[in-house]
Formats: sequence, C-alpha cells, structure tokens
Amino acid sequence: MATRKLLLLAGDGIGPEAMAEVKKLIAAMNEKLGAGFETEEGLVGGCAYDAHGQAISDADMGKAMAADATLFGAVGGPKWDAVPYEVRPEAGLLRLRKDMQLFANLRPAICYPALAQSSSLKPEVVEGLDILIIRELTGGVYFGEPKEIIDLGNGQKRGIDTQVYDTFEIERIAGVAFELARTRKNKVCSMEKRNVMKSGVLWNEVVTATHKAHYSDVELSHMLADAGGMQLVRWPKQFDVIVTDNLFGDMLSDVAAMLTGSLGMLPSASLGAPDAMTGKRKALYEPVHGSAPDIAGQGIANPIAMIASFAMCLRYSFNMVAEADRLEAAIAAVLDDGLRTADIMSDGMTKVGTVQMGDAIVEKFLALSA
Ligand SMILES: NC(=O)c1ccc[n+]([C@@H]2O[C@H](COP(=O)([O-])OP(=O)(O)OC[C@H]3O[C@@H](n4cnc5c(N)ncnc54)[C@H](O)[C@@H]3O)[C@@H](O)[C@H]2O)c1
Repeated sequence: MATRKLLLLAGDGIGPEAMAEVKKLIAAMNEKLGAGFETEEGLVGGCAYDAHGQAISDADMGKAMAADATLFGAVGGPKWDAVPYEVRPEAGLLRLRKDMQLFANLRPAICYPALAQSSSLKPEVVEGLDILIIRELTGGVYFGEPKEIIDLGNGQKRGIDTQVYDTFEIERIAGVAFELARTRKNKVCSMEKRNVMKSGVLWNEVVTATHKAHYSDVELSHMLADAGGMQLVRWPKQFDVIVTDNLFGDMLSDVAAMLTGSLGMLPSASLGAPDAMTGKRKALYEPVHGSAPDIAGQGIANPIAMIASFAMCLRYSFNMVAEADRLEAAIAAVLDDGLRTADIMSDGMTKVGTVQMGDAIVEKFLALSA
C-alpha cells in the first residue's frame, strides 16, 4: 500500500475543531480500510504568528511542498487584527498558494436535496445542483502590472489595475477544466468579456484552440461573464464546469456558493501544474469559510465544509474516486436523517454539535464502505 502523505494545517478559530473531524475520518480510513494515510501537522495563521512571528514558518512551508496534499482549516481572528501586514494570518495562505503555484481554484456548488429549502432560490431551481467553478488564481487583474495610484498633479489621482493573461496561463486552466469535465457531465462553459476586453478576446481564442487541439470530445460553450452571472441565478443546473478568470471567478464562485445555503457547507481545492516526473499536482484543500471567531470554541461549528474538502482531496490528489463518492453520499445521508448543526438548523430537524455531526458522517461512511 502506497503511503499517502498529508499535511494538516488547522489554523485558528474553528479551524482546529473542523479539522479534528477530518482527523477522525483519516484514522478510521487507516484502521478500517487500510488507506495508508501518513499525516503531519503544522501551524498557519495567527497561531503560527504567536509561535514563530510568521504566518507560516519555512519549516512548515517545506512540509507543504513535500506532502502529496495539504488540508487547511481557517486563519485569522480579532487577536491578530493589529499584527504587521506582512505577517497577518492571511499571509500564510497566500504564501502557500504562491510557493506551490496553485493556479487553479475549484469551487463546487452542490445542493444537497435535504437543504434545497434553505437556498434563497426556489427549491426546484437548486435541488440536485452540482456544478464546478474553476477560477484562474494566479494571474489577471489582481496581479497585473502596472498596479498603482498615481497623482495627476491637478488635484486628481488615477487608480490603475491591469488585466493581463498570457496564452500559457489560459491553456493550462482550460486544460484543468476540460480534464475535470471528462470526469463529470463532460460540459465546459468558458466565461469572459470578449465584447469589451482584449484579454477576453484572447481568453476565448485560446480556450477554443485548446478544445479543438486536445479535448474536442468535451462539449464547449462560451458566455459573457455578466450573462453567466444572470444564468447562474436563473437556471444554474444548465452548467457542469464553468472556467473563468481570476476576477470574474472570484465573483461568480461566491454567487454560485450562495445558491446552496450556508458557508459551513462549502469546500474548495486549489491545484498546481502536474510534476514533470511524477505527474502529481501540488494541492491545497480548504473550506470556503473563515475562522468564525464568533462561534469558535463552542463546539457548534459545521464540519461539513472541511470534510467535503477532504472528499475533494481523495478525488483529485489520490484518485480515490469511490471513497470520495461514498464520503459525499455519507454527508447527504446524514442530512437526510435530519441532523443539522446550528447554521443549517430548520424546524423539525435534530440539532447537533461539531463532534456529533463528524461522528455521524464517519459512521455512515464506514457503513457505505462495508
Ligand atoms: N480562508 C480563510 O482562512 C479565511 C476566509 C475568510 C475569512 N477569514 C478570516 O476569518 C475571520 C472571520 O471572518 P468572517 O466572519 O468574515 O467570515 P467567517 O467565514 O469566519 O464567518 C462568517 C459567518 O459565518 C459563520 N460560519 C462560518 N463558518 C461556519 C461553520 N463552519 N459553521 C457554522 N457557522 C459558520 C460564522 O459564525 C459567521 O457568523 C477573519 O479574521 C477573516 O479574516 C479567513
């Protein structure tokens, strides 16, 4: 059995509480299913600042570079609001993304049938929703130069951000989208603003050429990003995989996320390029939510986003597709049984804490694996 090396960075606030539930799952998979996970732990965020004066130490960064995958909880909290900018808790996450060159951000929006009622959209619009938004994470307007505010000398200033994409950046993110579509419903919709942006024209051309050259078996469509936003709230089930740039992806993935209810339910993954020798991608898996200082330490946080992030890790880093399917099925089954943490509680359901929710999911997962 090959060893599967995982780095666990629980972070601050509810991060450690949510990660504890994943640790239970890993221990159960090792013991009962011979999964062969080997875990290391490290510090990130405010707790790393308290220990080392940095948001992540070089030693822990080294562990992340050596691991097959890194699981990340959440960082930040009022305790560290006044620390110097370069060592603020979020700097640990940004360094992980930058040093591992994680250019592809995957945000699934899945609506569990049991939660369709709690969406802000009509249940029939979201029930059974399963889409994947792939956002380019290391290029575009957040990083392009020049990026500055200049004084025009006439009492006016000018703020400048620059949207820049090179061919290779579009090719590699499109490649991720097409490859993942093949494991799903085989459909990709690419979103940009080619009607008003040159980078959008190039984006459209390169996605089209990449499709023609390597992925013509996948169904490809194009949509202007603003129309895409409308379609996401009108009839989101028309989509399978959406691929878009850093800026549009930032917004569209948040829109899609909210179709499905609570922040406590949403996982994400960030992937790098495949290693030339091993074919393995560097990868970081994390819930979308933050450290939730308002509920930290109370044992009431919803661990599902963290557990679902681990399911993504099984699927994308270890190709344990059957196990990932079973873990997602276990989450759905526990919700069907009426178990709810406080953030997703509704009338007639059974309110449980973090540990009870984690235990119930582990138990269902093992039962489905028997
Ligand atoms: N990736 C990250 O680590 C990350 C992301 C966002 C925010 N943050 C940091 O987290 C801190 C708090 O930020 P925020 O309040 O804006 O966002 P948040 O996501 O931490 O919390 C927003 C609201 O959602 C609730 N919530 C979030 N996750 C939940 C869960 N799993 N179960 C139940 N309820 C949950 C919280 O109680 C809170 O009311 C800040 O320091 C912020 O910088 C970190």
